[in-house]
Formats: sequence, structure tokens, C-alpha cells
Amino acid sequence: MILITGGMGYIGSHTVVELVNSGYEVIILDNLSNSKRSVLEKLEFLTGNSLTFYEQDLRDKEKLRMVFQKHEIEAVIHFAGLKAVGESIKEPLAYYDNNVIGTLVLCEVMQEFGCKQLVFSSSATVYGMANEVPFREDMPLSTTNPYGTTKWMIERILQDLYRADQTWRIMLLRYFNPIGAHASRLIGEMPQGIPNNLVPYVMQVAVGELECLQVYGKDYPTADGTGVRDYVHVVDLAKGHLCALDYIQRHEGIETVNLGTGKGYSVLEVVKTFEAISKKKIHYTIEPRRAGDIAICYADTTKAKKLLQWEAKKSLQEMCTDSWHFIKAKKDEEHSL
Ligand code: NAD
Ligand code: WQD
Repeated sequence: MILITGGMGYIGSHTVVELVNSGYEVIILDNLSNSKRSVLEKLEFLTGNSLTFYEQDLRDKEKLRMVFQKHEIEAVIHFAGLKAVGESIKEPLAYYDNNVIGTLVLCEVMQEFGCKQLVFSSSATVYGMANEVPFREDMPLSTTNPYGTTKWMIERILQDLYRADQTWRIMLLRYFNPIGAHASRLIGEMPQGIPNNLVPYVMQVAVGELECLQVYGKDYPTADGTGVRDYVHVVDLAKGHLCALDYIQRHEGIETVNLGTGKGYSVLEVVKTFEAISKKKIHYTIEPRRAGDIAICYADTTKAKKLLQWEAKKSLQEMCTDSWHFIKAKKDEEHSL
């Protein structure tokens, strides 16, 4: 049995589908702070299974102990956390509390029940501003905002945990920029309010919910002057978790692995791809750089290929197509209500 914390969220939900469809039994734990209960029925439809879901906060230790008492959990994939960079600057304590304390409580209970296999959602944000691309797992780390610092701290905590008890098997996965949605159009990213990230924002412009994209900076040292990122399809990413789980089930130790494509695309390349797919004009203005942004970010994918035999397969066109189909399906659903 695999426990998926944050399994109702964007990456977690896609991972649940891949796991169950590969024969794993899963339990989902989520407090629904950034997801909706309706995701559960979509997951049950996509997996043809009835799924066990606990609506609870990871920091509620007693309730978590009850979940471990009830089920024989062999491994945990830990997605639960807050992830909005701007919000983390305004509310740092909420981020340290939710992300760091949540992970501590989880590890304490895992240890108590002798469950010592953990896959953790880290982020490319821990590479900070000082490194040269492509980002390699052994590069020095730094962060530019409290959200990133929570990821950095948790990585350190898990390293220390392993140092103290080498029967743990831990995989730290550093995701680059996940986009796209499930091909069924049933699950995808559903940001609340005005999106902070590029692709959700562009989609809102394409469906007419927002008027115009603000492109943050056109003076970066890139081909067209806009920021370059490593966009990775969420289903590819979800599959990476199966490889990670398989790896820790067969190997002792703690490892850190990048999950990205190794390719970078600029903001304007993403906008053009979206325009071509949606046949909508994406209006944009050029604005000053956003604080904390770096010019170019993409992964060195050597370790993922070697250690996990994982490689992202889907192109930017496929990612944008799936994002577009998902947002359109969601709009149609809203209109029919
Ligand atoms: P998401 O917000 O869609 O999913 C996270 C889920 O965790 C949500 O369903 C939320 O309700 C739940 N949650 C949050 N705090 C909780 C708590 N205390 N107890 C129980 N449930 C809680 O985010 P996502 O994009 O699916 O990201 C998943 C993980 O991957 C996060 O840890 C995030 O920091 C990390 N990550 C995301 C990205 C990205 O761009 N999406 C990139 C790198 C890393
Ligand atoms: C991508 C590019 C922006 C919005 C963030 C987090 C990171 C990780 C992934 C969780 C940049 C530009 C964006 C807009 C724009 N999340 N942009 N106008 O900043 O690479 O990464 O999400 O771990 O930690 O920092 O992603 O999608 O916000 O930005 O021009 O309205 O698009 O400047 O070049 P980012 P993003």
C-alpha cells in the first residue's frame, strides 16, 4: 500500500492514476486546501477502482497515526505542501509550518510504524540564481523565497534523517516546470484565483477570462530576451514517480534526481505554441523582470536516465495541447451547469 499525501492536487492526482493503473494500491491523504473533492470521482473513473481517501491535514499527527494503524503502508509519496512563491513571501510562517512541520510529522509517524521508504517532491527552485545551466543534482543550492527555502530545508532534514538511520530509502525529486494535463481532459491544474505561473495564466487569456499576459522581462540573455524554462508534461512527471518508487524498493540510500526534459523554451515560444494550438490571439505586454526570476533554467537529465531509466517523452506541443483541451473541457463543464 502506497500513501500519497497531496494526492488530490495537480501532480499527485496524475501520479495516483499512473500508480493504480500499474497495479499499485494507494491511499490518498489531502486537506483539500488547494484541490477539490470532485477530483476523487475523476480518479476513480480513470482507474476503474474505488479509492481510499482521507480528508485530513498532514500535521494532525494523531489522525495520521490512525491511517498508519489501519493500513499496512510500505512507502509514501509526499506531495502535500503549499507552492505559491509570491504567497510564501507574504506569509512565510504559513509555508514553514505547512511544508516543514508537515514533513516532520510525516517522518515521525513513518519512523514509528517502521515505514521508511519516501519519495519527496522537491523543486528546481533550490538551484537558486548562481548556477549555470544545465542544472546538475550536485550543484550548490540557494533559494530566493520562503517556498524554495522550505524545499531546501526539507531536503536537508531528509539527508540528516538518512545519516542517522540508514535503513531509510529516500528519493528527492526536483521537478522543473510541470504543465499539461491528462489526455482524458478530466484532471489537470486548477489554480484558485489569478494564476502565478505562465501556462495557467496564458490559458486564462486564451479562454477570455483574463485580457492580457504580462511578460516579465525581455532583456534576459536569451534568444528573444524572455525567460527560458524546462517545461515537463505532468504525465511524464507522474511516471517518474513510478520509476522512483521502483528504485527505492530495490536500493538502499538517499538520492536526488532532476525531473525535467533537459530542453528550455522561452516565454514567447510558449505563447506562440499556445496561439497555434488554440487558434486564439494571446495579447501580451512587456513588463519589468519579476523579482527572484532567473534567466534560464533547465535540467541535466543524465542522472534520471541512468538511475531511474526515466526520460520525459512529450513535446511542448503535446503539453500545450493537453493543457488547452483540459481548460476548454472545464469551461464547457462550467457552462453546462
Ligand atoms: P497542488 O497544490 O496542486 O497539490 C498539493 C496538494 O497538497 C493539494 O491538493 C493540497 O490540498 C494538499 N495539501 C497542502 N497542504 C496540505 C496539508 N498540510 N495536509 C494535507 N494536504 C495538504 O500542487 P502540485 O503542483 O501538485 O505540487 C505537488 C508538490 O510538488 C508540492 O509539494 C509542490 O511544492 C511540488 N512542486 C510543484 C511544482 C509545480 O510547479 N507544480 C514544481 C516543483 C515542485
Ligand atoms: C515561467 C516563466 C516568468 C508568469 C515556478 C516556481 C518554481 C516551481 C515552478 C514549484 C518565467 C514568466 C510567468 C507570467 C511571465 N514551482 N512569466 N508572466 O517561475 O519558472 O517556477 O513554478 O516548485 O519553484 O518558482 O514558473 O510559470 O511562474 O514562470 O512572463 O504571468 O514565465 O518570468 O520566465 P517559474 P512560472
